[in-house]
Formats: sequence, C-alpha cells, structure tokens
Amino acid sequence: MYKQLTKITSRPDLFEHCNASALWTDKHRAQHMLAYHLNEAIDVSSRNMDFIDRSATWLGKTFDLASGKRLCDFGCGPGLYTSRLAQTGAQVTGIDFSENSIAYARQQARDQKQDIEYIHSNYLNFHSTEKFDLITLIMCDYCALNPQQRSQLLNTIVHSLKDDGHLVFDVYSLSAFAEKQETCSLEHNQLNHFWSDKEYFCFLNTYRYEAEHVMLDQYTIIDENDHFETVYNWLQYFSPENIRTELRHAGLEITDMYANVAGDTFSDTDTEFAIVARPTKKA
Ligand SMILES: C[S@@+](CC[C@H](N)C(=O)[O-])C[C@H]1O[C@@H](n2cnc3c(N)ncnc32)[C@H](O)[C@@H]1O
Repeated sequence: MYKQLTKITSRPDLFEHCNASALWTDKHRAQHMLAYHLNEAIDVSSRNMDFIDRSATWLGKTFDLASGKRLCDFGCGPGLYTSRLAQTGAQVTGIDFSENSIAYARQQARDQKQDIEYIHSNYLNFHSTEKFDLITLIMCDYCALNPQQRSQLLNTIVHSLKDDGHLVFDVYSLSAFAEKQETCSLEHNQLNHFWSDKEYFCFLNTYRYEAEHVMLDQYTIIDENDHFETVYNWLQYFSPENIRTELRHAGLEITDMYANVAGDTFSDTDTEFAIVARPTKKA
C-alpha cells in the first residue's frame, strides 16, 4: 500500500508518459464527452452554443467562407462548428479520432441534409491530397500535445494549407498558468462515473512544471478488482512570443491575435488567446 501510494504521488518527468487519447477514444468515456459537448450549461469539451454561433459568424466573415472556401476543422468533435460553418457556403471537412463524436456528427449532417465530409482519424497522421483555405483547431487542443506532437501537427497543417490559406487556433496563456496550483485529491467515482461505469476511486495529482509553463493532471483510477490505470493530461501554456517562435520554426507566421476564436480584442491578461497564422511566404 505504502509503495503504491508513493508511486501514485510521485511527479513524473516532463512529458514522460503521454496517453491523453484515453480521455476521448475509450467507448465509455467518449459517451460522457459527447454529453459534455452537447450540454449548453457548461463550457466543457465544447464552449456554449452562443459562443459557437458567434465564432462561426466571425470565421465566415473574416475568411470569406461564403465564396465556397475549403475548410477543415481538426478535432471537430460532434460537429458543432462544422455544421454552422457549412451554412456559410464553405466546403467543410471535420476530423476527429473519437468514433462516437464522428458518428454523431455524420448523423446530424444526414438529418440536416448537409454535405460535410467527416473523417475518423488521428489528425497528427492526416495526409490530405487537397489543400485547404482555412484550418481550425478549437478549444485549446494544441495545448494538450507534447512538443513532438505539436511539431508533427504543425508540419501536417503546413502541408495541408494553400499558400494563401490560414490556420486559426486558441491556446491557454501565461495568465492562466499563474492561477494554477498543485493539488492532490481522492474521490469515489470521480466526475460522476466518467472513468468507468463500475465502482472506482480516483486520485487526481496536479503538478506544476514552472520553467516550462506546463501543468499535469495525473489521474490514477483504481477499480474494485484493484486494477490501476493512470491517465496523464498535460497542458502547455503559452506567451505570444513562445507561440510565435514555435510557429516560425514550422514555417507559419502570425498575422493576427484575438481574445478568442470569435474575434474579440486581444488582451494579455486573458486566460486564453487565439492566433491566426499563414504559411511563411517563400522568398
Ligand atoms: C476539447 S474537444 C474540442 C472539440 C471541438 N473543437 C469544439 O470546440 O467543439 C477536443 C476534440 O479533439 C479531438 N482530438 C484530440 N486529439 C485528437 C487527435 N490527435 N486527432 C483527432 N482528434 C483529436 C477529441 O476527440 C475531441 O473531439
């Protein structure tokens, strides 16, 4: 018992274990995630519908989507943005590795008679033969990736964008990092049976990686049969300068920054900010 508790409460090295896909692709958890996406009362998994409406309107106007532009939403979830963006006249593709969310999005598109292409895939490995005018990655998903995954994703995006195309995404800021604290808790059936429909206890250990501006939520789930599972949810927080440097290395340059993906005015005290970037022009 003492040895197990020591293991549960020991801080891993930065990005030592990465398995956050277990949050989205596991069958049981994917159903909880879908319920969060569709719950208008909470900004979990997706933001509220008023925000999404506002964001889709802003994206439509800013990127002239009505002229039949081609866009791809990376991590589209159940299609809350794609369904709205398709109404602007854009040709829309959505990619997600949650089978449950993609199945829901496809059904919605059939019901609404919308022509949206949904791809069930990991966006890190996405290879497209067509190039897009706009790629979106919404709800700070970029922050959940480790440096190697971020580099792989930016490489995929650069190869998938037209020369005059744009990437729009949002990230957590250093103001958000400043508010974060290390915590340790133990809860029975934590998050209302999110982890399993069986009985379990869940330890949540939250660690700060000060110099790197990274937080880790480490969940250790112990079920009735003493089976242990540990899920590592890393989050990287960014300054505008950090993200500019990371994008530049990948061949992207920032053209604008906003408070969010609905185009509100940027402020360096907000907990999140949104970035518009395009492929660096070749000399
Ligand atoms: C926080 S949710 C945001 C969903 C959507 N962008 C929104 O704001 O409504 C993150 C989504 O990204 C998907 N996702 C995360 N990593 C992914 C990956 N590597 N490849 C494909 N989808 C991924 C998850 O399944 C989930 O649907």
